[in-house]
Amino acid sequence: MRQSGPPQTFRVKSFGCQMNVYDGERMAELLAGQGLSAAPEGEEADLVVLNTCHIRERAAEKVYSDIGRLQKADGSKPMIAVAGCVAQAEGEEIMARAPAVSMVVGPQAYHRLPQMIAQSVEGRRTTDTDMPADAKFAALPARRKVGPGAFLTVQEGCDKFCTYCVVPYTRGAEISRPFKDLIREAESLVERGAREITLLGQNVNAWRNPGSGDDAFEFDALIRELAKLPDLQRIRYTTSHPMDVTEGLIACHAEVEKLMPYLHLPVQSGSNRVLKAMNRSHTADSYLKLLDRFRAARPDIALSGDFIVGFPGETEAEFEETLQLVDAVGYAQAYSFKYSPRPGTPAAAMDGQIPRDVMDERLQRLQAALNRDQLAFNAASVGKRCEVLVERRGKKPGQWLGKSPWLQSVFFEGEAAIGDLVRVELAAAGPNSIHGRLLETVAA
Ligand code: 5AD
Ligand code: SF4
Repeated sequence: MRQSGPPQTFRVKSFGCQMNVYDGERMAELLAGQGLSAAPEGEEADLVVLNTCHIRERAAEKVYSDIGRLQKADGSKPMIAVAGCVAQAEGEEIMARAPAVSMVVGPQAYHRLPQMIAQSVEGRRTTDTDMPADAKFAALPARRKVGPGAFLTVQEGCDKFCTYCVVPYTRGAEISRPFKDLIREAESLVERGAREITLLGQNVNAWRNPGSGDDAFEFDALIRELAKLPDLQRIRYTTSHPMDVTEGLIACHAEVEKLMPYLHLPVQSGSNRVLKAMNRSHTADSYLKLLDRFRAARPDIALSGDFIVGFPGETEAEFEETLQLVDAVGYAQAYSFKYSPRPGTPAAAMDGQIPRDVMDERLQRLQAALNRDQLAFNAASVGKRCEVLVERRGKKPGQWLGKSPWLQSVFFEGEAAIGDLVRVELAAAGPNSIHGRLLETVAA
C-alpha cells in the first residue's frame, strides 16, 4: 500500500443497485486504461473507490465505518475515493468529516477520476458532483467486459419524484443515451463474449432516443434492434415504471424471442391512498390491469416487484391491501423494504411515521407471503424444459450455474462451459434455486 506517488493498484467496492455495479465496472475499466491494475483478492490496494448507495438507511454511516477500516494503526492508508449516490448527496459533509478521503465523485462525474487522482497525488482534495450524465459516457473508454451476462446503462435519473425516494436528487433528471452509442456498446460487449445483455435504467422503459422526427423512437425499438445482433441470445431490462409502459413494449414480449419472459415492475403498495401519498401515479387496480396485458402477450412471464412497508401513515388495513395485491399477482420473486426516511424527500417530513416494531412485523408478514409465492412459482416450473445460460461453475465439481429464462438460478451437472446456452429439464425446486438435468447444448 503506497502512501505517496501515483497509485498502481486499485479496488472498486460497489454497493446498491445494478447500475452501481455497472458504474463500478466502468470505473475499473477507466482505471485499468490509465495503467493501474486491479489489486488481487485479499491484497491491499493503493486506491480504494467506495461506490456507495443512498437508497436506504445508514448508507452514509456505513461509508464512514468503511473509511475508518481502511486506515491502519500505523497511520498508513490507501488513497480513498468516495463515489456513488452518498457522494452525490453528502459530498461536502464527507470531505469535512473524513480527512482520510482524497476525493468525492458523483455518479455523473466519475469519468474525471484520472484528473482527480493526479490532483490527489499533488496533495489536493477534490469534489466533483456535477450533473448530468451525457458527458460521462462520451468520455469513458470502450468496454472490456467479457462475462456471458453484461449490463448496459441506457437511461439514468428520474423525473417521477416518488415522495420517499432520493434517486431524483442523486442521479438527477431522466436522460437517455443515444441509440447509436448503445448499439455500439452492445456490439462490443457481444464481441467480447456477452450473450445476455440487461438494459439498465432507473426508469429503463422511459428510454427514448434523444432526437426528433424519425429519430424519436422509444424503448421497444431499441429492444427490437438489439435482438438483431446475431450472437446475442438474451435481452433483459430493469427497472420499469408502470407509467412508462407502452403498447410497443408489451408487444415485444409477444414478438421478440430474445426478450426474456421476466418483468420487474415495482408497485410499492396495494393501497390507493398510500400510492397517492407516494406520488406513484398508478392505483392498485391500474397496476393489476397492466400486468394482465403483459400476461396476455406472454402468458408465462415471471413477475417481480418492489414493496415498501410502513410508509408514513400506513394503517394496518392499508398494509393488508398490499398483502391482497400480492395474493392477486403471484410474484415469481420480489424485493421488500421497510420505509426509510431519506433526508430532503417529502415523505421524511410527513406525519404518522411508523414505529420500528410495526414495520418489522409488517415486513415479516409480507416476506412470508412473497417467499410462499416464490417457492410456488419454482415448484410449478418442475418438469419444464428450458434454456439456461451458463454463468459460472457451481460449488461441487462438474456442477454449473446459470439462469432460466424466468431468472431462476439453475444448477446442473455435466459437460458445459461458461457462456454456453444449454437445454435442461427442471427437476427439483427450492425457494432460491432449481436443479436441472442437462439435455443438450444449444449454442457453445
Ligand atoms: N425507503 C425504503 N425503500 C425505498 N426504496 C426507495 N426509496 C426507499 C425508501 N426511502 C425502495 C423502493 C424502490 C427500490 C429500489 O428501493 O421499493 O423501488
Ligand atoms: Fe442506490 Fe439508487 Fe443510487 Fe442505485 S441509484 S446506488 S439504488 S441510491
